[in-house]
Amino acid sequence: MGERLKGKVALVSGGATGVGGAASTLFAAEGARVAVLDINAAAAEATALAIREAGGDAMAVVADVSQALPVERAVAAVLARWGSIDVLFNHAGSIVVKPFLETTEDEWDRLMAVNVKSMFLVTRAVLPAMLAQRKGAIVCTSSISAVAGTPMEVLYDTTKGACHMFARAIAVEYRDRGIRCNAVCPGFVRTPHGLREVDALQKLGVDVSDAALAVAQGRICEPEEVAAAALFLASDEASFVNGTHLFVDNGFTAV
Ligand SMILES: NC(=O)c1ccc[n+]([C@@H]2O[C@H](COP(=O)([O-])OP(=O)(O)OC[C@H]3O[C@@H](n4cnc5c(N)ncnc54)[C@H](O)[C@@H]3O)[C@@H](O)[C@H]2O)c1
Repeated sequence: MGERLKGKVALVSGGATGVGGAASTLFAAEGARVAVLDINAAAAEATALAIREAGGDAMAVVADVSQALPVERAVAAVLARWGSIDVLFNHAGSIVVKPFLETTEDEWDRLMAVNVKSMFLVTRAVLPAMLAQRKGAIVCTSSISAVAGTPMEVLYDTTKGACHMFARAIAVEYRDRGIRCNAVCPGFVRTPHGLREVDALQKLGVDVSDAALAVAQGRICEPEEVAAAALFLASDEASFVNGTHLFVDNGFTAV
């Protein structure tokens, strides 16, 4: 067990599986009390239980991050239990992979809600408690897709461009009141989301084979590697890092 988040309360949206699950586990191992916020109740409970069994402290809170009332209730439950939220990892998100002209209006509205409106709703619910203590660290999950387009992902890329700018704009508005807000921008990661994306792209003729991924980013990224970058941004080690985009892509976007 480390101490990089000792004494802090962390809320991880999408914290049940994948990168969010790895972050919940890592943040707890570094001393945080972790609220695992997810739409998948069973997976959130399982992640929280595993943390407690490993000697950490965690609670599961169930909400669809695109819905205001459930988000407000979930955040209120965490504040009622632990009194503060020091770290927010805005990670929950999903993807639609299909030709642009086949994208429906419902898909557009739903993904914008799950990936972008969610950052507005969860941050809006958490920020007052951070401002009251004049300290808080927010990490938002952007993506290489915020700056590098992939065919069949116009909608997804658009949402991630918005997440990218959300993190920067929050930082600028609130830095004078002790708030830091940064983004992690992963390449392709071995998670249910990432593997679903690779499979869907392959079926639509976009080459994301192991060989293509090896050229673009060396290999597939592991969830723990993104969680480690988020941990740095969430911790006091990043005390003067604000409004930045930390790419976790082994040079994908550097080429
Ligand atoms: N895997 C990748 O290759 C990759 C790369 C870049 C960015 N990302 C970002 O990571 C996130 C996806 O997470 P992951 O890759 O760890 O995969 P994942 O599918 O394992 O995790 C996503 C988590 O979010 C939860 N979730 C989904 N919709 C939700 C909702 N409406 N309300 C609450 N929780 C919800 C899921 O239940 C799941 O636990 C997205 O924001 C995505 O843009 C993923």
